[in-house]
Amino acid sequence: MRLSWVSLAVFIGSVLAQSSTVDSYISTESPIAKAGLLANIGGAGSKAAGAGAGVVIASPSKTNPDYFFTWTRDSSLVFKAVIDSFVRGDDDTLRTQIDDFITAEATLQQVSNPSGTVSTGGLGEPKFNVDFSAFTGAWGRPQRDGPALRATAFIAYANWLRANGNTTFVTNTLWPILKLDLDYVASNWNSTGFDLWEEVNSSSFFTTAVQHRALREGSALATAIGQTSVVSNYNAQAANVLCFLQSYWNPSAGYVTANTGGGRSGKDANTVLTSIHTFDPAAGCDALTFQPCSDKALSNLKVYVDAFRSIYSINSGIASNAAVATGRYPEDSYQGGNPWYLTTIAVAEQLYDALIVWNAQGSLNVTSTSLAFFQQFSSSVTAGTYASSSTTFTTLTTAIKTFADGFVAIHSKYTPSNGGLAEQYSKSDGSPVSAVDLTWSYAAALTAFAARDGKASPSWGAAGLTAPSTCSTASSGSGSSSGTVAVTFNEVATTTFGENIYITGSVDALANWSPDNALILSAANYPSWSITVNLPAGSQVQYKFIRKFNGAVTWESDPNRIINVPSTAGSTSTENDTWR
Ligand SMILES: *[C@@H]1O[C@H](CO)[C@@H](O)[C@H](O)[C@H]1NC(C)=O
Ligand SMILES: *[C@@H]1O[C@H](CO)[C@@H](O)[C@H](O)[C@H]1NC(C)=O
Ligand SMILES: *[C@@H]1O[C@H](CO)[C@@H](O)[C@H](O)[C@H]1NC(C)=O
Ligand SMILES: *[C@@H]1O[C@H](CO)[C@@H](O)[C@H](O)[C@H]1NC(C)=O
Ligand SMILES: *[C@@H]1O[C@H](CO)[C@@H](O)[C@H](O)[C@H]1NC(C)=O
Repeated sequence: MRLSWVSLAVFIGSVLAQSSTVDSYISTESPIAKAGLLANIGGAGSKAAGAGAGVVIASPSKTNPDYFFTWTRDSSLVFKAVIDSFVRGDDDTLRTQIDDFITAEATLQQVSNPSGTVSTGGLGEPKFNVDFSAFTGAWGRPQRDGPALRATAFIAYANWLRANGNTTFVTNTLWPILKLDLDYVASNWNSTGFDLWEEVNSSSFFTTAVQHRALREGSALATAIGQTSVVSNYNAQAANVLCFLQSYWNPSAGYVTANTGGGRSGKDANTVLTSIHTFDPAAGCDALTFQPCSDKALSNLKVYVDAFRSIYSINSGIASNAAVATGRYPEDSYQGGNPWYLTTIAVAEQLYDALIVWNAQGSLNVTSTSLAFFQQFSSSVTAGTYASSSTTFTTLTTAIKTFADGFVAIHSKYTPSNGGLAEQYSKSDGSPVSAVDLTWSYAAALTAFAARDGKASPSWGAAGLTAPSTCSTASSGSGSSSGTVAVTFNEVATTTFGENIYITGSVDALANWSPDNALILSAANYPSWSITVNLPAGSQVQYKFIRKFNGAVTWESDPNRIINVPSTAGSTSTENDTWR
């Protein structure tokens, strides 16, 4: 097809018109999004009445759906955006909210909840009531991205404090809180949990990637402030996690499979959110960490976006290389299964991040993996390196900027005139759906706008990493085999029907003397009850068995039992006892 001068002029005109529409949308929407975000933070937030200071509500919506709770994931992503903005010098008054957030999260860490206590898995609890009490209803728990994301938000603030002469606060106040989350990640990354959408119980790309990031920057911070005892463990686990992260890539189909379970295509905004929340401008287009401009992340982005072209009627008639409305995953049926504001604008953010790196590096690479992505913008492009002085670089980056702006234009088109951002917008007519004023929707708009402005979050240590050639499953602490011995406890005890035998003791792995969180034994070989627990190699551990019947707890008689755990990590040991 030969383009006439008139149609070319119309095309250029429409690109310029879109760009100025997006500029004007951003200038009106930015203050609305910022105010909307702050309104949802307990303390001064006008829509968060009843929430503790620094507690982020997911949305003021209290019915259909009821989101008047605080999720660790949402809160941490929101505060990472707030902290990055504060660190950039956008608004010094944000420090009040940041300090309140730290106090609130430190309190929530200590709240015993259905996932456990602070030392027995409770950090994996996904959400709490806004008054700091535990949410005890049925839920998809645990979710293991929360502690990692919270650590990342805290570390961003810690790095600013250190750079501004306040290492004392980092070491004395932030580090003890951070260490709980980082130790949790180091100990639990190799266990399953629910994904960020709270539906699939398996391993999840987003969770694994943010865990990797938290361990890397946690290790760097620990080194910087002299907390060296954790460093080798965090580094070792980070290497294991990075190795595992590679396994989500599906080379033949050219995308990242979002979850190891779930029985879906695996095409999921999870993966796009991963690229933007683990963006490190110093890492270039590194594919090992799925950087936004890496060939794998770009190939994945195309597959993800294309998955929504034919399933939403508001996308019909849109050219196959133009922006469309996108949702969480194509199989989604929640609240009707619609596009989401935060997922649509995440596509734009990934592309703006990519443009930041290409412009900084003065070149871009097209590889066989990313070829299909780039051919959307120039059908004749071939694999190769294109310097910024080349026409190909200009053609591609200009078209990609236009493509990215297209996602913001869709976001703008379906945002109501008051600028309020709900969770979703209807796949058939674009009107807002589900929870109103979703805090995460506001944060996602603000971070995408900043990326369009060329503002990248600080680096976190993704540059120059290598992954081990074989992946190790060894994770540290309880529930793992590194530095531990698998001790099997057998206890002979006769019980009445409905009565069970539990164990608790002096270490995390035995629930720290908590009868509520004591570990239940198996009666498969009744009257011998049995359980295998990983205990720290070479340690001396005290323990007792308890009986529970109709809520009543009976302890064994004194004294406490004692086991000297063998010193060879990875070995096994058996302890035979009889109820007394
Ligand atoms: C260090 O930062 C904390 C948290 O914002 C603040 O309360 C404290 O006053 C700061 N200390 C100094 C010496 O600036
Ligand atoms: C644990 O790590 C191994 C090695 O990377 C991996 O094969 C396995 O799927 C992981 N399991 C979970 C639940 O993360
Ligand atoms: C999640 O999956 C794990 C491993 O398959 C399983 O042990 C656990 O019971 C599951 N949790 C829930 C709540 O279904
Ligand atoms: C392009 O590829 C070369 C060779 O692999 C690499 O050194 C360079 O950093 C890459 N540039 C970008 C922008 O990805
Ligand atoms: C514990 O009991 C089992 C089964 O009766 C037996 O095979 C094993 O040798 C015993 N181990 C110790 C250390 O007493």
